[in-house]
Amino acid sequence: MNHKSIYFMLFLISFFLISGCKNEPKNILSSYESKADSIIRLMTLEEKIGQLSLFTSDWSSTGPTMRKDYIDLIRQGKAGSIFNAYTVDYVMSLQKIAVEETRLHIPLLFGYDVIHGHRTIFPIPLGQSASWDLEAIEKSERIAATEATAEGLNWTFAPMVDLARDPRWGRVMEGAGEDTWLGSQIAAARVKGFQGSDLLNSNSLLACVKHFAAYGAPQGGREYHTVDMSERSLYEWYLPVYKAAVDAGVASVMTSFNEIAGVPSTSNKWLLTDLLRNDWKFNGFIVTDYSSINELVQHGVAADLSEAGSLSINAGVDMDMQGSVFMNHLADLVKSQKVSEETINSAVKRILVAKYKLGLFDDPYKYCNKKREEEEIMRQDFLDFARDFAAKSCVLLKNSNKTLPINSGSKTIAVIGPLADSKSDMLGFWSAAGKAENCVTLLEGIKNKVKGSVNILSTKGCNVNDNNTSEIKQAVSVARNADFVILALGESRDMSGEAASRTDISLPGVQLELARAIIATGKPVAVVLFNGRPLSIPELDSIAPAILESWIGGTEAGNGIADVLFGDINPSGKLTMTFPRNVGQIPIFYNSKNTGRPINPEKPFEKYKSNYLDAPNSPLYPFGYGLSYTTFSYSDIKINKTEFQKDDQIIATVEIKNTGERDGEEIVQLYIRDLVGNVTRPVKELKGFKKILVKKGETVIVTFNISTSELSYYHEDMSFTLDSGDFELFVGPNSSEGLVTRFSVL
Ligand code: NOJ
Repeated sequence: MNHKSIYFMLFLISFFLISGCKNEPKNILSSYESKADSIIRLMTLEEKIGQLSLFTSDWSSTGPTMRKDYIDLIRQGKAGSIFNAYTVDYVMSLQKIAVEETRLHIPLLFGYDVIHGHRTIFPIPLGQSASWDLEAIEKSERIAATEATAEGLNWTFAPMVDLARDPRWGRVMEGAGEDTWLGSQIAAARVKGFQGSDLLNSNSLLACVKHFAAYGAPQGGREYHTVDMSERSLYEWYLPVYKAAVDAGVASVMTSFNEIAGVPSTSNKWLLTDLLRNDWKFNGFIVTDYSSINELVQHGVAADLSEAGSLSINAGVDMDMQGSVFMNHLADLVKSQKVSEETINSAVKRILVAKYKLGLFDDPYKYCNKKREEEEIMRQDFLDFARDFAAKSCVLLKNSNKTLPINSGSKTIAVIGPLADSKSDMLGFWSAAGKAENCVTLLEGIKNKVKGSVNILSTKGCNVNDNNTSEIKQAVSVARNADFVILALGESRDMSGEAASRTDISLPGVQLELARAIIATGKPVAVVLFNGRPLSIPELDSIAPAILESWIGGTEAGNGIADVLFGDINPSGKLTMTFPRNVGQIPIFYNSKNTGRPINPEKPFEKYKSNYLDAPNSPLYPFGYGLSYTTFSYSDIKINKTEFQKDDQIIATVEIKNTGERDGEEIVQLYIRDLVGNVTRPVKELKGFKKILVKKGETVIVTFNISTSELSYYHEDMSFTLDSGDFELFVGPNSSEGLVTRFSVL
């Protein structure tokens, strides 16, 4: 049979199987499976292994360089998917090779790390999470998917949902912070945003939840380091976030580099098969992280690459990212019966089904539309949204004497600091196809805002991360000539992200010295922070009149921050990760345990209590914290009953009054505490939030509805059940403040 007739036959099979069952997703899935089976029957073992192999193009490097002639591998049917290749022309040229030059004409998947935007770059995910705006988060992924698919991509290696409690770890910038409940909501929103209402739509792509599992808990915050935790912590805090993505229908899962309790994820049968596939019913495909099968040898669980390959595929891995282990060893492993062909067939089937889900067999070039590429990249409405999202992600950490917003009487404003005018630092790590030249810096954003009506001075003052203090003096004289100073400090884009752990998370280089000198001028100073992780900045907090955390805001960073600084947007973001006073407090997170010797808050340094000699237990800024240009008062907390049955609804209300001078949005948070558990319980657990607009002088009654079943947890025997007993319920502006009431579950 020549290639045209095989392709026609595959098309006919798809046509007949799909046409009878358009509106029945389950039937559609099983029709994809039967179609995949028909193809598998035609495949040689080598062709099957090709489908299980993913290789990078040479367009970008997202891991240790292991160059392959990927074009030749596609031609030989040895590469079923490619990553780090985009644009219509390029994707089309590679897809053509797969479709026209291989025996079975199976189209390729094209993957890429579209993490916080594709061309239009949004704030880093940690910053996005500080908006607590699930709709905006979902919309940002919808836009990212629209742009990525317009450039040929059909698979993103996102969302990264790793729960993280250690800001030394550079990849905290990619996640949603330290809370399981909030992280789970955000994970689901991201999957929905990427995958859209139907994967067959030409602007939807496959999402890939990562890194399964617990990659966010490396010892000491050191990248790629060992993870070791109790089964209870794993189940209770770390796993639910991935599960939320699976429940939202995520199409693929990426294994993590780390081990958990001695078993690397990439060879962990319990994790990949028993839990993910059997318990959670995940029916997509599992890809490894970059060469993580090979790393089983360094982990010391495989003697060589062949054994590594057999361990990983038998554990449940379907696709090898970049390691060539499947390509080089699977055929022999089948021959020596260490891996069954059945196992290989199942893996191939899952990958072919994903290709069917996207409609690639019907139209392998569906993402290669030049017109879309021209029209759907960096559309004005995407940029407008990016600007708004950059503003929404900002968290006002300090604002003494109403330093912000900037007084409209200011005639001269100085914008000082190493991050005041650095375009590439606005992109952050994982900036996909985003370009520095498209970014708006803070200086540019401020100039755009004042449109020549204010005199703007600017100077760097120092670099981000060296010891050179020679420019500080000149920066001070610039500050002296201004009525208001904006000081742009923080980390450069590569100081967070993958392979960017730090042992010292204070302001790098001599930036604190610059801040001291500028603040000493006595001018009103607002510090704008750019960083991918919580920083420890106790001195800055004590000396700076105002601090605005802007994270790393993406393409429209400067415009969005300017909107906040000038008061066109009232900041409403709240932290999703605790800011420690110093690294010695790490790990520090709000939902910790009470211990047997909790401190008396009145006597924080009392002997024989769980504390430090040299720093309080409390963080610099707690989880959930963030100020506004207005103020809110919380009063009149009520619940519908004080005693609940096990299947009841708890309805809690609270009055929020805007007591300040302008309208503002408030993120009202609900926490609970189970006072006596079957095992120890955290001092607080987030169970809900409402983001509301309260007009100046007005009062809004906020209602929360939670089911008592949400109070369940893993008991001593690991059963997930609900206790009878007493609970506290808190409603407040952050995890450290608020009103409290009590109730019982009978
Ligand atoms: C390694 C990273 O850990 C992972 O998140 C990413 O998707 C791959 N490289 C591919 O770039």
